[in-house]
Amino acid sequence: MHKSDLDKIIRVDHAGELGAKWIYEGQLRWIKDPVIKSEIQHMYDQEMHHLNYFETLMRDRQVRPTALMPVWKWFGKTVGAVSAVLGTKAAMACTEAVEDVIDEHYAEQIKTLEQHRPNELDLIQTLKTFREDECNHRDAAAGYNHDPSVAKQIVKKIIKVGVKAAIKISKRI
Ligand SMILES: [Fe+2]
Ligand SMILES: [Fe+2]
Repeated sequence: MHKSDLDKIIRVDHAGELGAKWIYEGQLRWIKDPVIKSEIQHMYDQEMHHLNYFETLMRDRQVRPTALMPVWKWFGKTVGAVSAVLGTKAAMACTEAVEDVIDEHYAEQIKTLEQHRPNELDLIQTLKTFREDECNHRDAAAGYNHDPSVAKQIVKKIIKVGVKAAIKISKRI
């Protein structure tokens, strides 16, 4: 594995955690229910911890951030705000969809690193911990939303396609 491939991993994860921060910020601004708010606040706090880790790592290893930061910021805040304005169920469906993709994304990275960079023990262990956090977010969100409707499936599908595209683009740009 080339250094530039490792840089891509760090860059895309940093972009993703930033995206998560902005989505949750967008939601926190618009969600009224105090119980839901504190649930989202808890997720947000964990995302900030994830984000700080990648910011430090980028500085230490001199990896540049994605050039698309302003685009992702607009995108994340809009997705967060729109989902929250639509209500708790939509907000939680959004989290469920996003974290589902992130779960797979981290799993893939962990596998790649274990194969090609087994000496990156700290990074691998951290990704495992973060992945668990993301799965907990997904499961908590799913607990608020058992709606089996076609509308929910469509919304989730659209969000997933969007997140997957963002991951692909952020690796390169
Ligand atoms: Fe995260
Ligand atoms: Fe998350």
